[in-house]
Amino acid sequence: MKVLVACEYSGRVREAFRKLGHDAWSCDLLPAEDDSPYHYQGDVMAIINDGWDLMIAHPPCTHLAVSGARWFKDKRQEQEDALDFVVGLLSANIPMIALENPISVISSRIRKPDQIIQPWQFGHGETKATCLWLKNLPKLEPTNVVEGRENRVHRMPPGPDRWKERSRTFQGIADAMAQQWGGILAKEGTHEDH
Ligand SMILES: C[S@@+](CC[C@H](N)C(=O)[O-])C[C@H]1O[C@@H](n2cnc3c(N)ncnc32)[C@H](O)[C@@H]1O
Repeated sequence: MKVLVACEYSGRVREAFRKLGHDAWSCDLLPAEDDSPYHYQGDVMAIINDGWDLMIAHPPCTHLAVSGARWFKDKRQEQEDALDFVVGLLSANIPMIALENPISVISSRIRKPDQIIQPWQFGHGETKATCLWLKNLPKLEPTNVVEGRENRVHRMPPGPDRWKERSRTFQGIADAMAQQWGGILAKEGTHEDH
């Protein structure tokens, strides 16, 4: 399956899919943290029509997340631009799409998410409500519910890389996406082959 992981510098979701044999690529304005050759550095809109089967998108939440609401009034244009970017991703001509963001104005301005997941449902003892907007994909099933409920993000020291530490996809969630969504087309293909 041809998988585009849009707005990903960490390579976590890309590598989870590649380990299962998919032709997965990440794309970000930033270079890949792991120097992978399977990374396109540039605007995702330049490659969004290149025949992908599945796209998982992690657009920036800076001007969308409800946690930053106190800045919204000074950042109207930035918020409109961020919403336009989300609309562009969600309306891409790709059969299966998942778009991920924290609790954000996407819910009130575009539509409500299909589900809200937490890292503690996927093996990480942390809270971080993560919304998923889905097209032709089933809801992600929890893989490993653990006891811990720490809010690590609030304890992170300020610094230039704090946003990166906060936004890197949790490994357990990346693995669940690849395991649960990577099989969909393969299973359908198997039926067609018979
Ligand atoms: C919230 S971070 C997502 C990080 C991701 N979860 C990961 O593990 O790498 C959003 C990313 O979107 C990227 N980005 C913003 N606009 C973009 C665009 N037009 N095309 C591709 N990437 C973009 C930013 O550089 C940033 O790294």
